[in-house]
Amino acid sequence: MSLSGKAKVAGVMGWPVSHSLSPRLHGFWLQRAGVDGTYIPLPVPPERITEAIRALPALGFRGANVTVPHKEAALAAADRATERAQRMGAANTLIVEEDGSITADNTDGFGFVENLRQGAAGWTPEAGPAVVLGAGGAARGVIGALLAAGTPEVIVLNRTRSRAEALAADLQGHFPQQPITVADWDARASLLSRAAVLVNTTTQGMKGNPPLELDLSALPVSAVVTDIVYVPLQTDLLMRAAARGNPVVDGLGMLLHQARPGFEAWFGLVPEVDEALRAHMLTFVGR
Ligand code: ATR
Repeated sequence: MSLSGKAKVAGVMGWPVSHSLSPRLHGFWLQRAGVDGTYIPLPVPPERITEAIRALPALGFRGANVTVPHKEAALAAADRATERAQRMGAANTLIVEEDGSITADNTDGFGFVENLRQGAAGWTPEAGPAVVLGAGGAARGVIGALLAAGTPEVIVLNRTRSRAEALAADLQGHFPQQPITVADWDARASLLSRAAVLVNTTTQGMKGNPPLELDLSALPVSAVVTDIVYVPLQTDLLMRAAARGNPVVDGLGMLLHQARPGFEAWFGLVPEVDEALRAHMLTFVGR
């Protein structure tokens, strides 16, 4: 479809940006809805990211996504940030407002929770404690989003316990009513008995890495199991959990759902995450 002179324009800034699936994702929604708009890859080197972001209003962009390594710089370059972006110390979505100012948002945690809501019928964030494996940036987004959505307690387990403690101490200030409990990595199997949801945010199980070592025997069969990676789509953890009867949710949906708030703000339509979109995206994901 060709664009008119009034086309709405957005894109994704990254360095490199060639690996980004976001143009495929937004392109699918734009085409399906017949929107007079486009979403393009924007390769921006780190030393020019602030300049590039500040140029968005002058160029008439509706906004942009920002990916690695620009997420922290994007937060700093914006005029204001949502609470969840501030809590993350990073932004993935920039919205150019009508007055030309830029709002930074972080929708990664939103995408995580929405993916679980859609993929695990009957699960709600309030259902019970979450056990989160890992304490990196991904864990931070997941834990913050779960607590913001009402999860009563989060148990964080990380190979390097001090990292889990630092993360818990920091996030606990934002959610004083909901305990963030840290335990030893070696005790992870026994703590699974408390989980209503189990989340792997470690790199274990990702393509090129060994599978996550975790004995699932104490995990209630009602607990939802999810992995935030989507290459491979079915990790060893998800396959083992499904085999014993646990509901499982793969990580692709997190990518799809995190894109919704940006699309809606830029193009004025509520996009849907459905099987057609998943099938389209799976053609670009190395399984
Ligand atoms: P991200 O920001 O994407 O979450 P990260 O900060 O590199 O990535 O975090 C990777 C996570 O995988 C960490 O929690 C890491 O544990 P450490 O903090 O101890 O490094 C975890 N991880 C990596 N290799 C691991 C392994 N062999 N066993 C267990 N956890 C591992």
